[in-house]
Amino acid sequence: MADISLDAIDFKNVDEGAMYQHIEGFFSNFLIWWKLANSFPLPSHFVKANKIVISGMGGSAQAGTIAKDLLFGESKVTVELVRDYHLPAYVDRNTLVIAISYSGTTEETINTFIEAYSKGAMLLGIGTGGQMAALARKYKVPYFEHDYEAQPRAALHVHLAAVLNFMSRLGHVTISDEMLGRVDELETYMRAHWVETIPEGNNEAKQLARKMFNHVPIVIGDGVLCGVAGRIKSHFNENAKSMAYYELLPEMNHNALVGSERPVKSPEWLHLLLLDSKYTDEQNKTRMVLTEQLFKDRKFKVTRQQFNSSSPLEEVLLAVSFGDYVSYYLALLNQVDPTAVNVIAQFKSKLAH
Ligand code: PA5
Repeated sequence: MADISLDAIDFKNVDEGAMYQHIEGFFSNFLIWWKLANSFPLPSHFVKANKIVISGMGGSAQAGTIAKDLLFGESKVTVELVRDYHLPAYVDRNTLVIAISYSGTTEETINTFIEAYSKGAMLLGIGTGGQMAALARKYKVPYFEHDYEAQPRAALHVHLAAVLNFMSRLGHVTISDEMLGRVDELETYMRAHWVETIPEGNNEAKQLARKMFNHVPIVIGDGVLCGVAGRIKSHFNENAKSMAYYELLPEMNHNALVGSERPVKSPEWLHLLLLDSKYTDEQNKTRMVLTEQLFKDRKFKVTRQQFNSSSPLEEVLLAVSFGDYVSYYLALLNQVDPTAVNVIAQFKSKLAH
């Protein structure tokens, strides 16, 4: 029912799994887990790695996709993300493999963990325990164990803080104290604009959720916001229980532009969310504007979203938070519990038999 008011909902009743607290706590929790990750001992030889592979699935892969974007402009070594059972053939003793699994039981990620060990790679696990923690103990490799209780996707701040902290300490990305100091200001911005107490008339996250209601979201990523585009797409899937897709600029200008000729009937049911990054090539900025216009001309719904940031890290964190709120409010409009993802567990158990 689109006529549900987002300003008068009894959030505690609808949000059975208390997803809201994770969304609201994103920035402060990121800082808490950054400090905890900072005191985690990293083996000194990890600095010698000349290739980095981050392995994870679903909600646990998102820290990898987002970190990869932030490392792209700085890291002098190859950074690869694996969301499957096997590692690339090039993985060797000089490769650092970081495996992330919230539960520590995801079979694809566990398999890469075992493969990494058998290839003699430098290996590090992240998660809440499970089989991966047991393997890490057996292999005598470091395991960053946390106890943040949430759905894996809602623990992004833990996994992202850990990966970025480790990458920063190993010299693959610069995250300065000044940048971290500004995370509090992002929280202030969030509280002034997107939280549930800000009425819909002034709350662009609620407004976008309403526009997305009964539409198929297509999130377009650009620059450092490519990984975030995937994260937001997954949040529309998992929080709002809606099909959603994502595309990346400039690549989509070489194919999806042509696809915009169809559907001829009702293209307005597709809603493009363009994540307009400041940290991208100037030509991509032009592409973003032209893409917006072309899809509007073809009667698609389009929202181009910018974020007021002074560093790529800030832009990424703000975009994650914005996507969290929009997908959360869309879940409320869809009248579904934002937390529940029962079908994933059911699917995993079918695979195990
Ligand atoms: O959102 C989810 O629950 C999934 O995408 C999981 O993150 C995914 O199935 C992997 O599980 P885990 O994060 O426990 O490794």
